[in-house]
Amino acid sequence: GEGFVIAIDGPSGSGKSSTAKGVARARDLRYLDTGAMYRAMTWWMLTNGIDVADASAVADAAARPVITMGTDPDAPTVHVDGVDVARQIRTDEVTANVSAVSAVPRVRELLVARQREIIAEACATAPGIVVEGRDITTVVAPDAPVKLFLTASAEARAQRRSREVRSDDVAATREALVRRDRLDSTRAVSPLTQTPDATELDTTGLSLDEVIALVVKLADEAR
Ligand code: C5P
Repeated sequence: GEGFVIAIDGPSGSGKSSTAKGVARARDLRYLDTGAMYRAMTWWMLTNGIDVADASAVADAAARPVITMGTDPDAPTVHVDGVDVARQIRTDEVTANVSAVSAVPRVRELLVARQREIIAEACATAPGIVVEGRDITTVVAPDAPVKLFLTASAEARAQRRSREVRSDDVAATREALVRRDRLDSTRAVSPLTQTPDATELDTTGLSLDEVIALVVKLADEAR
């Protein structure tokens, strides 16, 4: 039947990934982390000696890596040319360079096409999919029946991200995160923006379980 799509956008550390995975588990949906795809592209560029500051070099090389995603929310995977890069895409180097790579239109064109294929596949073979990123509600799946924009204070986001990356330096994490959000929100192509028809959810004072329960309720109402 018609697959069900839940689209979630928001800045770094707003709780998108944990929320999306939790909702997918609760309702037997697939899960797609589009940020992991931009990270995989960035890792490949860095590994293959492409100057990520050179947008035309990045554009020329962008079709070379084959990026494949496993969409089981209990064990999501990301492979580049058949190599599992789950760990490699979380390094500080990739994090520091991903905004430059994701701002290149050709990169977005290729990855958005892949994301739409994955969504179509999940809708054909599963009850549906939860997709999270920066342009899911605006560009990738604007017709999704559930569209959410997750926010949280910069302090709360820095605390969460520090815990995730096991860093004690919350101030440095906060600085890196604010910088990345500024780059992602001000780029020319598909910047992180909040559409009026996306439901805003401020997760600052909420536990993960509370956020998941809220989203599941919204999803059940929209079904
Ligand atoms: O979600 P995550 O923080 O892993 O995303 C890494 C980066 O990928 C973001 O900072 C952004 O530059 C890029 N991204 C994007 N569009 C998406 C998802 C992520 O540009 N839909």
